[in-house]
Amino acid sequence: MKRMICASLLAAALGCAPAMAQDAKAGRAKASAQCAVCHGTDGIAQLPTAANLAGQQEVYLVKALEDFRAGRRVNEMMTVVSKDLSDADIANLAAWYASMKVTVQVPERQP
Ligand code: HEC
Repeated sequence: MKRMICASLLAAALGCAPAMAQDAKAGRAKASAQCAVCHGTDGIAQLPTAANLAGQQEVYLVKALEDFRAGRRVNEMMTVVSKDLSDADIANLAAWYASMKVTVQVPERQP
């Protein structure tokens, strides 16, 4: 018991365990309603100027969404989309996109 408490305190102190429990399923529902038109239902962007989100690191996604919401990062589409997201929405959306598995095929090097 003591060890468990220590482990969770350590995780919280290091910031490796987000304070909020993420719900990837809720993130999926929100993403298909509000994000898929630009970022694709499979997390592969439908717009050339939007980013592929499938398999992206969770901390990266959380930071990007928080930055858009706070106005630290500005984009005419994402600034509008992010302004009504709650902390829980951001955690859930990030968990959903991060849970997608992607594989990468590196092209042969050209001679
Ligand atoms: C109308 C189109 C549109 C919608 C809808 C949209 N996005 Fe975006 N998103 C963009 C564009 C365009 C960018 C690229 C912004 C830039 O260049 O800074 C972007 C960037 C992002 C990024 C940053 C990616 C990176 O690599 O830094 C994240 C994360 C993101 N969107 C998440 C979401 C989520 C989550 C939703 C749904 C709640 C959403 N977006 C809805 C168009 C959209």
